[in-house]
Amino acid sequence: MTNNNNDLLLKERAAKVIPGGMYGHQSTWQLPHSFPQFFNRGKGGHIWDTDGNEYIDFMSSYGPIILGHCHAKVDEAVAQQLKKGDCFNGPSPIIVELAEKFCTMVKHADWSLFAKNGTDATTICVSIARARNNKSKILVAKGAYHGAAPWCTPAPAGTTKGDKENLIHYNFNDIQSVENAINEAGSDLAGVLVSAFKHDNIVDQELPSADFAQYLRKRCDELDAALIVDEVRAGFRLSEGASWELLDVQPDLSAWSKAIANGYSLAAILGNDKYKKAARSVFTTGSFWFTAASMVAASTTLDLIRSENVIQRIEALGETFRTGLKQQANSYGIPVSQSGPAQMPLILFADDSINNKERGNLFTEEAMKLGLYLHPRHNMFFNGGHTEQDIKQALEITDRAFLVLKDRYY
Ligand SMILES: Cc1ncc(COP(=O)(O)O)c(C=O)c1O
Repeated sequence: MTNNNNDLLLKERAAKVIPGGMYGHQSTWQLPHSFPQFFNRGKGGHIWDTDGNEYIDFMSSYGPIILGHCHAKVDEAVAQQLKKGDCFNGPSPIIVELAEKFCTMVKHADWSLFAKNGTDATTICVSIARARNNKSKILVAKGAYHGAAPWCTPAPAGTTKGDKENLIHYNFNDIQSVENAINEAGSDLAGVLVSAFKHDNIVDQELPSADFAQYLRKRCDELDAALIVDEVRAGFRLSEGASWELLDVQPDLSAWSKAIANGYSLAAILGNDKYKKAARSVFTTGSFWFTAASMVAASTTLDLIRSENVIQRIEALGETFRTGLKQQANSYGIPVSQSGPAQMPLILFADDSINNKERGNLFTEEAMKLGLYLHPRHNMFFNGGHTEQDIKQALEITDRAFLVLKDRYY
């Protein structure tokens, strides 16, 4: 980073006209001080801030960028659609093609609905589950994030007690805690909502055990409750189908967004035939939910994820990065935990605490100054625009960031 004058000026202006200066997960207020708030452009695995500083981008826009920023084939398909129009009195035919594509790629899907954001998708899944069996209670894992609507937001401001009164909590990968939650729901259980893997903020990530996933499927069948998998963050980064296909478990409903359209705004709700009538009965719509360009982007993205072998490539790049980082941490004697799938890594410093992330902050701030955008406590996302050269360069940068940490703390 050479300077951040433009970013500072924009922050000042924003503070006057945007509450808090910025809102939501893309606000830098909880990031180390010099993290840029604004970005001008991206290409492949790289981004540029408003001062012209270039970064290797290991956040991929918090997930949506799966093929790389400004992927030429996706952007060309979108440009062609925009010449014809985007927003009509009804959807363009691409909606049918896209629904067919999802139903081909994702085993449990017999139908699709589309919306715009992950929260739309998780919220609609929950409504469909309730509509089918006319029951209220939804089991959710403690600490899991499913969106920013009143029923699921982690921040209490602006919500009422009633918004969350039909949620019952269990612990991810903990069968006994699910059983306790099932007992608490009694005869009013509508469904179990579960993330594709545990990717809660600030704590180590955890993959689901096959036993846990299979147990949820079995109990939902026995109780005639919906098994809902939240694929918003993990979808199409672990598998070319649903993430739990790797465990041979098919949910009834699944919620998708982020990666499905390589940065264009789209969400999908997928379900099996058992839930089709209920899906028909729930009133779901939005002014922009039927626009064609983002569906064209999704259709092209889904093809390219397969034809460009994106998942295998990002997993291999993630493994190389993880291995290099581990060697560096060991050689400097700095205890680091790396968790989750290699293509969606979380890096935490063992000597930091939940409330004090000073080592993580210093490490990512040093990396950022040298042109690598890492996150101090959120999982990161590799994308198909990253190259082996990016990983090599990233590791040269992390080596220097470790050295700063070593000098300061060890
Ligand atoms: C697992 C999960 N579910 C739901 C959401 C909500 O998605 P959105 O922010 O697009 O509404 C997110 C967003 O980060 C997510 O990670």
